[in-house]
Amino acid sequence: MRDFRLKCFGLILLVILVMCSNFDGCEGRKGRRWRKQKPPSSSLARKKVKNGGGDNHGSGGRGDYLSATLSPTPITEYPMKTAMFNVLDFGAKGDGITDDTEAFQAAWAAACKVEGSTVVVPAEFEFLVGPISFSGPYCQPNIALQLDGMIIAPTDAKRWGSGLLWWIEFSKLQGISIQGSGTIEGQGSVWWTTMESDVDPINAELSMKLPQIKPTALRFYGSYNVTVTGITIQNSPQCHLKFDNCEAVQVFNMTINSPGSSLNTDGIHLQNSRDVMIHHTNMSCGDDCISIQTGCSNINIHSVECGPGHGISIGGLGRDNTKACVSNITIRDVNMHNTMTGVRIKTWQGGSGSVQSIKFSNIRVSEVQTPVVIDQFYCDRSSCKNQTSAVALSSIAYENIKGTYTVKPVHFACSDSSPCSDISLTEVELEPLQEHYHIYEPFCWQAFGELYTPTVPPIVCLQNGKPTSKPILSDDDLC
Ligand SMILES: *[C@@H]1O[C@H](CO)[C@@H](O)[C@H](O)[C@H]1NC(C)=O
Ligand SMILES: *[C@@H]1O[C@H](CO)[C@@H](O)[C@H](O)[C@H]1NC(C)=O
Ligand SMILES: *[C@@H]1O[C@H](CO)[C@@H](O)[C@H](O)[C@H]1NC(C)=O
Ligand SMILES: *[C@@H]1O[C@H](CO)[C@@H](O)[C@H](O)[C@H]1NC(C)=O
Ligand SMILES: *[C@@H]1O[C@H](CO)[C@@H](O)[C@H](O)[C@H]1NC(C)=O
Repeated sequence: MRDFRLKCFGLILLVILVMCSNFDGCEGRKGRRWRKQKPPSSSLARKKVKNGGGDNHGSGGRGDYLSATLSPTPITEYPMKTAMFNVLDFGAKGDGITDDTEAFQAAWAAACKVEGSTVVVPAEFEFLVGPISFSGPYCQPNIALQLDGMIIAPTDAKRWGSGLLWWIEFSKLQGISIQGSGTIEGQGSVWWTTMESDVDPINAELSMKLPQIKPTALRFYGSYNVTVTGITIQNSPQCHLKFDNCEAVQVFNMTINSPGSSLNTDGIHLQNSRDVMIHHTNMSCGDDCISIQTGCSNINIHSVECGPGHGISIGGLGRDNTKACVSNITIRDVNMHNTMTGVRIKTWQGGSGSVQSIKFSNIRVSEVQTPVVIDQFYCDRSSCKNQTSAVALSSIAYENIKGTYTVKPVHFACSDSSPCSDISLTEVELEPLQEHYHIYEPFCWQAFGELYTPTVPPIVCLQNGKPTSKPILSDDDLC
């Protein structure tokens, strides 16, 4: 075997010598050939795919070039004409132990200069990376991250300093997509555990040193035309996927996965973002599967699975007397299993602004504690101060919400000063799972609207028509 390799090597060397002597040097020829290509490294990209991507550790230099030239089989066309930057070519080891952050940064820096380029994270490698920011104000548009391997987060406390809000961040990009069958593994268990409760001494020791602030696994900020597809994000220390100040976002065919017991691990968090589409996505986590925060509009979510988790939530909004504006949200064709709530709107007392034009339809719940919730007294402590102002809720439609619950079918707790208006219920049929639990009746407080069909159980507490006292709107309430 060794002999054979040596012979091969010798043969290749000979060919190199012959070839180089026929031209004005390999480097020179490579340069000319590359300059003729547009985009510059597309030939390299095609060849890499043909060679099996990940197995190619070459530096993108002489060796690669020759193997392509000498290849007896015709080069297969790759469907996309794009420049590829494989992290292995920038020094990444992919052994799950070596810190590959610099290699990822270098690959990004190269990709950033080429419109429509792709950073390749090959399959069957595990890259220890981050915290890292792929920052784009000076980058070309439409860059993709082809993620087929695994990216894992450091658990070494030193890497997190006094606390960071995110692990992997993409910011200020025009056209960015993450695609592939790879995984972003947050190694969150060391963050979720509290010292006392943890039985694993290694986890307990690690978590003792980690900062209080837990990072979101993947965050997009200030970007336009963002796509996340194919990948899995799992075991995040905190929220898995976050969009802040983004527009034209597509998330589909992806998975988010963490244990139901993991603290504060939201699935997808949206904030100040519009024109967002999330579909064909499965989420299990320890907090809201999807959380829609202030500044969101034109959000369309469908064909998603949620559970375990806390359900899909709009809010909490209006915390610390802030103004919140959320409108035009459609959530349909959702399966929820073993979640705390189903579809929920939660606001803090003392807020202002509004939530309007919300539609929840075709929601299937099974073993959900409380499938339908509006809570304008949201409070994550034992008690919160009573305040009169509230985020105003109106035009909220529930259509075809069916399945089983374990605590209460419907809970509408609206503000005294600003009652909920225009709540509509159509085909709401919820059956108790009575075996193990105490079951409560539907609850309403200051909730106005209409039942378009009889409900199961009957929801007699919803008040017909409009609230008599219109809330006094100040400029602060206009969105
Ligand atoms: C959005 O991004 C995709 C690829 O990421 C690109 O093909 C498309 O042209 C972009 N659309 C706009 C409107 O920029
Ligand atoms: C969904 O993503 C997986 C990779 O995780 C891929 O193999 C599959 O083809 C994708 N399906 C669709 C319909 O895009
Ligand atoms: C989500 O789960 C459903 C049902 O278990 C499955 O058919 C579908 O392929 C899953 N989707 C993804 C993106 O994994
Ligand atoms: C509501 O959002 C959808 C996208 O989810 C969009 O197509 C529609 O135009 C929006 N409607 C209004 C009135 O803005
Ligand atoms: C707030 O108001 C509710 C209902 O009127 C009352 O039960 C509760 O004790 C009040 N809480 C505080 C902190 O004042």
